[in-house]
Formats: sequence, C-alpha cells, structure tokens
Amino acid sequence: MKVGKVLISAEEIQEALVRVGRQITEDYAGKDLLMVGILKGAFVIMADLARHVDLPVEFDFMAVSSYGDATKTSGVVRILKDLDEEIEGRDVLIVEDIIDSGLTLQYLMKNLMVRKPASLEIAAFLFKEGVDRPPLDVKYKAFNIGPEFVVGYGLDYQQKLRNLPYVGVMEED
Ligand code: IMP
Ligand code: MG
Repeated sequence: MKVGKVLISAEEIQEALVRVGRQITEDYAGKDLLMVGILKGAFVIMADLARHVDLPVEFDFMAVSSYGDATKTSGVVRILKDLDEEIEGRDVLIVEDIIDSGLTLQYLMKNLMVRKPASLEIAAFLFKEGVDRPPLDVKYKAFNIGPEFVVGYGLDYQQKLRNLPYVGVMEED
C-alpha cells in the first residue's frame, strides 16, 4: 500500500478549519467549553482547530482503540486513556479525526453522557459518506468524503503517515 492522490490539500484544510473555528466561537460564546480530542488521530486537528477558536477553552484527551492495524473496524472499543477531568455540567465538544462506522463515537457518546455534561457535541475533521452507521448527530464537519481509506493530517495507516500535512488516499502498490 502507498499514498496515492491528494484528496484534500493543506490549504483547503486550513480554510475549512477557519470556518469551523468561527462557528464554534459563535456557538460557545459565554459557555464553559471543554474540547476533548480522541487520540491519537485527533492531535493534529485539535492543535490547528483550537487556534481558530477565540474563547477561553480548556482541553482534555481520551485514547480509544477500535481498529487494530487493519483498515476495517472491529466494532470493539477499548478506553486506553480516560479524561483527566470530570465533565459534569461542562459544555463538551468531542474532536474526532474521522467518522467511518461511527462505532467509536456511538460508544463514546454513551459513555460520556452518563457523566452528565451540560452539553455534548461532535466535531469531526472527516465524515465518510455512503457508510451504514448508527444515527449520529455530528454538529461540526470540516469535510465529507467518500468511503475510501485515507491517511495524513492525523490519520494513520499502520500507525504511520499521521504527519502528512494533507489528506491522501491509500492505494495498492
Ligand atoms: P469508526 O469507529 O469506524 O467510525 O472509526 C473511527 C476510527 O477509525 C478513527 O478515529 C480512525 O482512527 C480510524 N479510521 C476510520 N477510517 C479511517 C481511514 O480512512 N483512515 C485512517 N483511519 C481511519
Ligand atoms: Mg487509526
């Protein structure tokens, strides 16, 4: 497998993050925003998106595993690292690299709702269209993409390629 064509350029990514950052800034004005990045994939978008959010926002991270090293989801979600902080009464925005089967987020939403946040929303960098998934209310999306396997800008293939500044499509050699 290798990286094929560029699907989303570095410039297009930054433009989209300006737009999403502005929406978040408007929607969460006067609120107690906590952005929760889902590791490892979300570390790149978290850093870039956060710099377009003009609010006294706090950050926390969770690490979950749903994939192993295959390119298909296993449906099994394990929490590898939980939040450092309590979220009761907080306005929580989950920041995720990509929504594919939606199983990771479905599990996380359920797990975090039990902790009684004031609000719980999702911001996804990429949203795969044409995939059968449980209903998920994704408030912020940077890009809709097709069902192909993509890498870069936080997304990995066997733990590599997260540092590509653009999003590329994986293809056979
Ligand atoms: P889901 O539970 O199937 O929605 O998958 C969520 C996780 O699977 C993401 O956070 C990624 O780590 C991984 N994933 C899903 N699709 C891709 C892809 O196209 N490239 C790289 N990782 C992916
Ligand atoms: Mg992954």
